[in-house]
Amino acid sequence: MSNIVAPSILSADFGNLSNDISMLNNSKADWIHIDVMDGHFVPNISFGLPVIDFINSLSKKPLDIHLMISKPERYIENFLKYNTKVLTVHLEASKHLHRTIHHIKSNGVMAGVAINPHTDVNNLSEIITDLDLVCLMSVNPGFGGQKFIENSFSKVKKLKKMILAKNSKCKIQVDGGVNILNAGKLVENGTDVLVAGNFIFKSETPKENINSLKEI
Ligand code: DX5
Ligand code: ZN
Repeated sequence: MSNIVAPSILSADFGNLSNDISMLNNSKADWIHIDVMDGHFVPNISFGLPVIDFINSLSKKPLDIHLMISKPERYIENFLKYNTKVLTVHLEASKHLHRTIHHIKSNGVMAGVAINPHTDVNNLSEIITDLDLVCLMSVNPGFGGQKFIENSFSKVKKLKKMILAKNSKCKIQVDGGVNILNAGKLVENGTDVLVAGNFIFKSETPKENINSLKEI
């Protein structure tokens, strides 16, 4: 089974978004990663529902929505109405994670949980069999274009061990600073889904860069 590649639209050209979406439509990208930031859970505000309406209307690829917002349970329904493949909430932002996960799953959408760089993967042990995806943040969430945190390699290994031990079908996603230099080791350690923003959109050859991540 090959890697899933999810380009992060946060690094796209918002003055010409339709151009970048059509590039993705004609590429080997699997999902479009959508970063929603509220200026409260993370120190940045990205974009909201009208922009996602637009992306969803043009995209031929399903959406992988990453909510970096406090109390995400308030907005789950808003994000389920798209061609949503995965809806991910942060462990650190949700008090009733189990309820939120099952709310997402009951709509036939994959439920994901993201954890910040400082959060130990062991915090997921009681919920791992309920999850479809864990998003390991390999930068502090809030901005694109940051440097990959090397400790993420061992977190992937540790999480993979837990998933196998618990007989879970959960996928491992890595998000932040992913590029061709670290993607090989990430996949080797057990990563299923590579998210990349700058490596794709800030390049002169975005489609080739998507291919390079697919082919690892
Ligand atoms: C960070 C976001 C990431 C980011 C990835 O808060 O969750 O998805 O857009 O972008 P790069 O690959 O540039 O780090
Ligand atoms: Zn993200």
